[in-house]
Amino acid sequence: MTEPFVRETVLSSLEDTTALAARLAPVWAKRGGVVYLEGPLGAGKTTFVRALLAALGHQGTVKSPTYTLVETYRIGPHLVHHFDFYRFADPEEFASGGFEEYFDPPALVLVEWPQKAQPYLPAADWTVRLALETPMSLASESTPLESRSVEAPQTEVSSLDQRSVGVSLDNPLRRAWVIAHHPRAQAAVHEAWE
Ligand SMILES: Nc1ncnc2c1ncn2[C@@H]1O[C@H](COP(=O)(O)OP(=O)(O)OP(=O)(O)O)[C@@H](O)[C@H]1O
Ligand SMILES: [Mg+2]
Repeated sequence: MTEPFVRETVLSSLEDTTALAARLAPVWAKRGGVVYLEGPLGAGKTTFVRALLAALGHQGTVKSPTYTLVETYRIGPHLVHHFDFYRFADPEEFASGGFEEYFDPPALVLVEWPQKAQPYLPAADWTVRLALETPMSLASESTPLESRSVEAPQTEVSSLDQRSVGVSLDNPLRRAWVIAHHPRAQAAVHEAWE
């Protein structure tokens, strides 16, 4: 196995996310495959998927599949599945959920929170790792979990936590790494930057 090929970009704005997605969308959709979207809460995983679907010509809304687990899009000749496994309490839920067939070629499969379905998830061809860097990012690392919990929206978030979340989402530095896990995947990333 060759070393994964990595490309790093700074995402200063939504325009940068749109531009990154627009580069990758055609080469990924043409080949199909599995893309893991990694990064903390609010890193921009769903935003990247929205940009990718728009780049392929999708015109409707894009719902975050947090509750439905998967949303499927047919865009021209392309079949795209968007998973979010955030709510899995146990990775066995992937094994028992009958999700394997979604990964059949030539679909393009985009997966948020892939680690929640390991070790059952099919391997990634590409990973997009998104990072949020702020002076408060360490302090706020665990606090946004509250806001994602369905059972606990009424839970009081302390004023310190609110401040941390505010600062971390206010003006963070966003970075993206596109990682290709094998030579064919690498060729696609090269093509995206030609
Ligand atoms: N490049 C960007 N520039 C500015 N804001 C962004 C960018 N990308 C995402 N955002 C904003 O960050 C917020 C969170 O984004 P998003 O929902 O995509 O995160 P996520 O990684 O999918 O989070 P989760 O783990 O909760 O699913 C949104 O308000 C979105 O508009
Ligand atoms: Mg999301």
